[in-house]
Amino acid sequence: MSYDLVIVANRLPVDRVVLPDGSKGWRTSPGGLVTAIEPVMRANHGVWIGWPGGTDQDLQPFEHDGLELFPMTMSADEIEGFYEGFSNGTLWPLYHDLIAKPEFHREWWDSYVAVNQRFAETAASLAAEGATVWVHDYQLQLVPQMLRDLRPDLRIGFYLHIPFPPGELFQQLPWRRQVLEGLLGADLVGFQMPGGAQNFVRLVRQRVGHKTHRDLVYLPDGRTVRARAFPISIDAGGFEELARSEPVAQRSAEIREALGNPRKIFLGIDRLDYTKGIYARLRAFSELIKDGHFDVEDAVFVQVAVPSREQVEQYRILRDEIDRLVGRINGDLGRIGRPAISYLHSSYPREEMAALYRTADVMVVTPYRDGMNLVAKEYVACRFNDDGALVLSEFAGAADELRQAWLVNPYDINGMKSALLEAYQAEDKETRRRMKAMRRTVTQHDVAAWADSFMTELSDVGTHGKAVRPAHRS
Ligand code: F6P
Repeated sequence: MSYDLVIVANRLPVDRVVLPDGSKGWRTSPGGLVTAIEPVMRANHGVWIGWPGGTDQDLQPFEHDGLELFPMTMSADEIEGFYEGFSNGTLWPLYHDLIAKPEFHREWWDSYVAVNQRFAETAASLAAEGATVWVHDYQLQLVPQMLRDLRPDLRIGFYLHIPFPPGELFQQLPWRRQVLEGLLGADLVGFQMPGGAQNFVRLVRQRVGHKTHRDLVYLPDGRTVRARAFPISIDAGGFEELARSEPVAQRSAEIREALGNPRKIFLGIDRLDYTKGIYARLRAFSELIKDGHFDVEDAVFVQVAVPSREQVEQYRILRDEIDRLVGRINGDLGRIGRPAISYLHSSYPREEMAALYRTADVMVVTPYRDGMNLVAKEYVACRFNDDGALVLSEFAGAADELRQAWLVNPYDINGMKSALLEAYQAEDKETRRRMKAMRRTVTQHDVAAWADSFMTELSDVGTHGKAVRPAHRS
């Protein structure tokens, strides 16, 4: 079987679930990427290659909801070296401002090369003559060039979902040149922010020695590579529809009731990751109570921390720190039936997230560094009455578009306290003015527009392969 469009991502867009009859099945993952890419895949006879999680070794290609999926197996050693090691112990902290210290281990790198090679070989074996291949994210940066070596006839796009760091940080990487050369196998390299694209082009000029002009890199073999920003977004219409639905309205009322009907509900929803600034935001909130600005009867902070990368040491340390902090804050400030922080270490389906967004008066998104941050956009999409306040870190990509949020520097605890308090006290007229403007941005630039703009640009720049047909959307 060969395909005109091949999506290559570390993860498949489905999760393994146990069905009511006890058998195992699949459920589409809640992320927006699949929503965006699905129509393009359908319009172009596409397949998605990725890891389904775990070490299940006997998975065959399968169809789910009309999407063709090709599962990549991963051995326990590869999970340790490629996924937990090089992807999340080296690249993740290196690309996020060294918030944690990246570790450089040669065995991890070897595993990264081997797994990237396997993904590239699989993509090469599934792509039709002249097909388009779209490779995603930091786990697979070597795939574009590996794939080009195997299949020079293909049109190749790459998109980085996380920030691309400045040269001063990137150059710590012992394999910096190989990563840059890996990415240069693509015809189009997409980034979240213009700054990331500029960092990349500058590094290519300085470290690899290629000629560049603005967003173009000229390779000695005559190929050109374009590097530019395509800020990702969410399925804004889908979220709004869900938030307006009757079951979500009911659930939202239940949540407010269960929290004891406080005047204001603050909300944080994050993967439990050290880049997200969860610790600092909870401290800021608790100090506002201690300082007497409001009481646990007036306000509660609901923090959802989605378990993530639990085998990686820095994530375990973070979990312990947050557990201790929440325990201390609630022990010091809570009353019977009235914790200051309602802390949930769990992941929830989209419906529950929409209900939480609908309930929250103040959404708090304070990462130290974030490629985009889709939670901020999801909150805005769900506020169909134009109410609700967003407190947003300047260091999230989303801050470039959501200028009307209460913008904060998450390193500045006093600044965060002031912003939280302002958002808590803001007049309805003020929150509405801000939310209205942000909603305009999010509804206009949704994830479908993002996927279309990347695909259209890839059709224009690629000198190899056939152009991909844009999806026909209703
Ligand atoms: O956006 C960064 C990212 O690593 C995605 O690739 C991934 O879907 C998400 O975060 C969750 O991370 P993980 O796949 O490591 O659970």
